[in-house]
Amino acid sequence: MIISTGSPIAVSAQSLIKTVTARSGSLTILSGLDLKIKSGESVAIIGTSGSGKSTLLGILAGLDQPTQGEVALAGNRIDHLDEDARARVRADHTGFVFQSFHLLPNLTALENVMLPLELAGKESPQTHARTLLERVGLSQRLTHYPRQLSGGEQQRVAIARAFAGQPDILFADEPTGNLDEKTGESIINLLFEVNRENKTTLVLVTHDLQLARRCQRVLKLTQGRLEEEVEHSGAAK
Ligand SMILES: Nc1ncnc2c1ncn2[C@@H]1O[C@H](COP(=O)(O)OP(=O)(O)OP(=O)(O)O)[C@@H](O)[C@H]1O
Ligand SMILES: [Mg+2]
Repeated sequence: MIISTGSPIAVSAQSLIKTVTARSGSLTILSGLDLKIKSGESVAIIGTSGSGKSTLLGILAGLDQPTQGEVALAGNRIDHLDEDARARVRADHTGFVFQSFHLLPNLTALENVMLPLELAGKESPQTHARTLLERVGLSQRLTHYPRQLSGGEQQRVAIARAFAGQPDILFADEPTGNLDEKTGESIINLLFEVNRENKTTLVLVTHDLQLARRCQRVLKLTQGRLEEEVEHSGAAK
């Protein structure tokens, strides 16, 4: 098992390059990107559609590999690790909320949230999963399958699942993209509550500037690199 070193830097990337092969030839999505996120910080990543935000988040969370460059999570280098080793670092440190939910279609809401708890060998996975689903307002939907849930409900199950392993770093890709304003707000409040209470590092991709401004830092992805938004006035608590 890879042990957390308790690094004060939760996420770091250095000289990150991501190139993919498209029909039209080679496409550079990230071009020498640097990033450091401290433990417990909340950071928003903004940028136009297609600027590479989801690609970056996937690489930072160890779901995807960079073409070149270094990535470390909680002090553990992950860029050179194979999928199995990255999966262990992910299980030990991260939760991920996807732009498109990624729930397992043949498992109920409750089972989807229980799965990471069972895989991690946690005690009373069902009780824990039930509590998490209650917290996102879904106590009446425990035995529904994803196809029987609305988009917003699926996103809430995905968020409960991401919280399940009590990750020290939570990545969320447009977590409110599919929610109405009121539901979105309660989900966001929940993300920030967990960030404060558990000192969870929060890395959020969003189009919503108002949401971005609730984070301590706002970074803009342009031309494959990140720029700090200097006019950002700090977190509105
Ligand atoms: N595997 C791939 N092969 C070819 N092109 C890709 C691949 N993955 C991503 N791209 C392209 O790279 C660019 C960045 O994609 P990405 O999904 O990271 O953007 P994004 O900033 O998250 O956009 P959005 O805000 O619309 O979600 C896009 O133009 C996309 O078409
Ligand atoms: Mg995206």
